[in-house]
Amino acid sequence: MDYKAQSDRYSSMPYNRCGNSGIKLPLISLGLWHNFGDIDSFTNGRDMILKAFDLGITHFDLANNYGPPTGTAEKNFGNILKTQLRQYRDEMIISTKAGYTMWEGPYGDWGSRKYLVSSLDQSLKRMQLEYVDIFYSHRADPETPLEETMQALHDIVKMGKALYVGLSNYNPEQTRKAVEILEQLGTRCLIHQPKYSMFERTPEKGLFDVLKEKGIGCIPFSPLAQGILTDRYLQGIPEDSRAARAFFLKPEQLANEKMEKVYQLKQLAIKRNQSIAQLALSWVLRKKTVTSVLIGASKVEQIIDCVNTTKNYKISEEEEIMIENILA
Ligand SMILES: NC(=O)c1ccc[n+]([C@@H]2O[C@H](COP(=O)([O-])OP(=O)(O)OC[C@H]3O[C@@H](n4cnc5c(N)ncnc54)[C@H](OP(=O)(O)O)[C@@H]3O)[C@@H](O)[C@H]2O)c1
Repeated sequence: MDYKAQSDRYSSMPYNRCGNSGIKLPLISLGLWHNFGDIDSFTNGRDMILKAFDLGITHFDLANNYGPPTGTAEKNFGNILKTQLRQYRDEMIISTKAGYTMWEGPYGDWGSRKYLVSSLDQSLKRMQLEYVDIFYSHRADPETPLEETMQALHDIVKMGKALYVGLSNYNPEQTRKAVEILEQLGTRCLIHQPKYSMFERTPEKGLFDVLKEKGIGCIPFSPLAQGILTDRYLQGIPEDSRAARAFFLKPEQLANEKMEKVYQLKQLAIKRNQSIAQLALSWVLRKKTVTSVLIGASKVEQIIDCVNTTKNYKISEEEEIMIENILA
């Protein structure tokens, strides 16, 4: 299959500046945590990535451990990149991460310099890339000195293996300290990737303030609460859904009380002429500190639906109050 990108791919997607940096990110970015591993359909994964790119999604987010099996999302993405998107590499922001368990023994996990540098080398080989645009420390390591982890990020940039660095799942205090260490070393932290959605609001308790103060971009992951904040589970658990796999999203996370809120959100979404997913993404995007929302998808149609959020993503004060009442 010979792919040629749509010529109008930059005509409707808005691009936001990522903190105080030179980089702009699309309002909607695509993550490859689920549905791009070797257990999944390669052609479906390829079709989703190419459709995303056609719709103006320039940012693709990976991690060393995405699959399953671990590493295979990067491998498959690398193949798609090589065969279909090679000529568009400079139009893309590709990120990867290390921080969770990747290989056996003491050097395949957490935040040591040994792990971060060797993991990124492996990621680059799997994706057949010379560098990534963003490399993240995937989580703060309580045992490794923060100075060592940040020095590794700084050196990775100096070595040309990543253009920018980011932090994920760091709390406000860890973020502030890490950013300041990086600043002293001469590397800016580009972006933070926290979990944030209508059902997960921890970043409102200090993290957004630190990011704003430091001029760092923010790309919330799981903005649809892994699919709960969509119409996916309003009539039970579909066989082809993430909850049916019952691994990262367990059926007990779909409690009646939560689904009742989703049902009420649906009524508001209908009034806005939107899907529930579009309302949930608009709500995350109402925060000025949010640069882009990082969605996942299992079908091309879901990506189209999410991208259509860009047609109407302003939430009025009145709607915000209505949403607070539903979530309360
Ligand atoms: N830094 C971290 O620690 C971390 C952790 C988790 C994720 N992430 C990143 O964030 C990305 C997104 O995470 P996520 O997949 O949990 O995000 P999400 O957007 O909250 O959930 C994605 C799931 O929602 C469903 N969905 C998406 N669009 C839909 C639509 N328009 N209508 C109906 N259902 C829809 C699909 O479920 P079905 O598959 O059931 O169809 C899809 O797989 C990941 O790929 C990864 O890049 C980072």
